Amino acid sequence: IRLGILASGNGSNFEFIIKSIQNNELNAEVSILIVNNPNCLAIEKAIKYDIPYVIINHRDCNSRLEHDKLVMNKLEELSVELVVMAGWMRIVGEEIINKFNNRLINIHPSLLPSFKGIDAIQQAMDKRVTITGCTVHYVQKEVDSGSIIIQAAVPLKEKDSIETLKKRIQDMEHIILPLAIAKVADEIRTSFKDKK
Ligand code: GRF
Repeated sequence: IRLGILASGNGSNFEFIIKSIQNNELNAEVSILIVNNPNCLAIEKAIKYDIPYVIINHRDCNSRLEHDKLVMNKLEELSVELVVMAGWMRIVGEEIINKFNNRLINIHPSLLPSFKGIDAIQQAMDKRVTITGCTVHYVQKEVDSGSIIIQAAVPLKEKDSIETLKKRIQDMEHIILPLAIAKVADEIRTSFKDKK
């Protein structure tokens, strides 16, 4: 299955997707990495693993719609079948959501529906929950609200700082995101067969 990865930051999830493919744990190929930040570290990972990438900087666009359209055109041009938001710090508009209905997924660092939006890890700490985690879910119009694909729980320890907790959540993200991609890819393959 042809994947399009959207990232804005470090790209550690992107890197683990590539590793899972290389280890034959995930039957997929990354057709493109799309980033919106020209300086993000995800780009270095694309270079390291020789994955094609493109920078589509929202600061060069006049509107969210214009940016979304550029992203969508690139994904369509490459016949991407499944789009993975792996640390994509942008809200995607309805055009992309409708176009990639059930083929657009996101990873979020909390046990949704708790702690939607930004600073999810800090929100969990502030509430003094004893268990948090991460969620891979389908993307719908309301942020962090689509159906859940996979979740994993991460306990909070008394001594946790935001950094130690973030590290433990991210380690878990790196496990569940490739699993979720495999699951959705299977569903896409099955629905394709059914249509034939
Ligand atoms: C992850 O924690 C993810 O849950 C959130 O952004 C972070 C991306 O990290 N949406 P990375 O860029 O994959 O390292």
